[in-house]
Amino acid sequence: MNPVFKQVGIVGAGAMGRGIAQIAAQAGSHVVMVDMQNGAAESAQVAIHAQWERMCERGKVDAIQLASFKTRLRCAESLGGLAHCDLIVEAVVERLDVKAHLMSELESLVQAGTVLASNTSSLSVTAIAAGLKRPEQVAGFHFFNPVPLMKVVEVIAGLKTATSVCAALADYARQMGHTPVKAMDTPGFIVNHAGRAYGTEALRIVNEGVADFATVDRILKDQIGFKLGPFELMDLTGLDVSHPVMEAIYHQYFEEPRYRPSAITAQRLAGGLLGKKSGAGFYAYDAGVAQLSSEPSVPHVDEIPPVWVSPRAARRVELLGLLRDLGAKIETGASPSTLALTLVAPLGFDITTVAVVERLDPARTIGIDMMVDDASSKRRVLATNPATRQDMRHAAHALMARDGKSVSVIKDSGGFVSQRVVAGIVNIGSDICQQGICTPADLETAVTLGLGYPLGPLALGNAYGPTNMLEILFNMQTVYGDPRYRPSPWLRRRGAIGLSLLHQED
Ligand code: NAI
Repeated sequence: MNPVFKQVGIVGAGAMGRGIAQIAAQAGSHVVMVDMQNGAAESAQVAIHAQWERMCERGKVDAIQLASFKTRLRCAESLGGLAHCDLIVEAVVERLDVKAHLMSELESLVQAGTVLASNTSSLSVTAIAAGLKRPEQVAGFHFFNPVPLMKVVEVIAGLKTATSVCAALADYARQMGHTPVKAMDTPGFIVNHAGRAYGTEALRIVNEGVADFATVDRILKDQIGFKLGPFELMDLTGLDVSHPVMEAIYHQYFEEPRYRPSAITAQRLAGGLLGKKSGAGFYAYDAGVAQLSSEPSVPHVDEIPPVWVSPRAARRVELLGLLRDLGAKIETGASPSTLALTLVAPLGFDITTVAVVERLDPARTIGIDMMVDDASSKRRVLATNPATRQDMRHAAHALMARDGKSVSVIKDSGGFVSQRVVAGIVNIGSDICQQGICTPADLETAVTLGLGYPLGPLALGNAYGPTNMLEILFNMQTVYGDPRYRPSPWLRRRGAIGLSLLHQED
């Protein structure tokens, strides 16, 4: 083993510092931990030893490796014990004054070539290094929790960081078994920036009364393949962590509407409904297990009326095929008969607008989300408009559930649930590329490894169609008159000519 950095110092031996210390020692470096709290570094050492012993019991490392890991990890009483290091990573409290002061103390102790890295998740690397004599030696090295399992790390160049420093950190990350992604020093870097749409758009949907939080979770898991719904995720992370991140990124981008947080989480945070850790969040928890309410049952309908499908429906051919498979009587006239259940399948527009524009009877008009291919989705989503008759809603629900597939019926919304959330993720991801915060490939890697999404934002946009993404956002902008839905130029140009969102110009 020949690690890029042979002597590594870690300042702050909390959740993150100890994880970084563990994988640094595993990579072959000699690691020294320092913490200002008496005994904290020592207890981190005990915890890391226990971790290695478990790995040994499971056969992941042998006894010789275990012994060598242990000899490479020690603690020091003070920062002076780090003077010999060629890399120091700080993982102390998230405060600019504390980190900047610490960095200047470290700079005065070490050799000129030592790299000083910060594990900050929300502060500017440029600001942390601003008062130093050698800001070119400072970079962000942003790991995720738990460090040994989350295999991605953001390497962040401040305005004055030397290219060679970032290159060395990226090589070292690979030796640690992690995948480095290179990010520009901007609020939230890549992962915390790209993750903005999932929760905030879901909160907005609930805030508008379109669907309750459990329905939103079910739709995004069953239609798009997310492992956790946005509300399950907020409950897991805790609103004490996720709400301040939403606020911080919004304000750091000077109130950019795309990142606008929600009053729902502000109030729940104030009320102590933090999530799983406090026993109650969006879901109630019993012994750590979320208590899920049952889904509305499928209504019993004696006779389903004939169905007429708008000629402007998205995926019209698939929709007609689906209706045939479900045994529906399909009307083929230019307009629906007076009895017909009228199906529309817009992208981005709400059902009310479509009924008005296409001169349909709103009482019999129901929307179905056809952005997602029905065959690859575990759920169908229908939307009513304020005038939809109950018999029509029940008929549409019963028809769509005939083959046993789950059905959710939501209230009218520009863009249903999946369209809104997916287009939001794709738009923010596109804007990250437009701003040159990272390469398209690094964006995809960072999001799939750091957030666990089924696909990166650009691949997600490609899967549902770049042109469809653009159409959804344009139409939602009309429905809501809200600048948060304005498409990023990256998406606008590629979507307009049907080009892959992963396409990077020379
Ligand atoms: P933590 O609270 O578990 O640990 C921080 C440790 O730093 C404590 O042991 C504390 O005694 C020590 N400390 C504080 N000020 C110090 C100083 N001036 N000198 C020496 N030691 C000092 O915090 P955690 O969660 O490990 O976070 C550390 C850093 O990592 C923060 O910047 C945080 O934003 C960042 N981060 C945290 C993530 C997380 O999920 N917890 C994820 C990614 C980054």
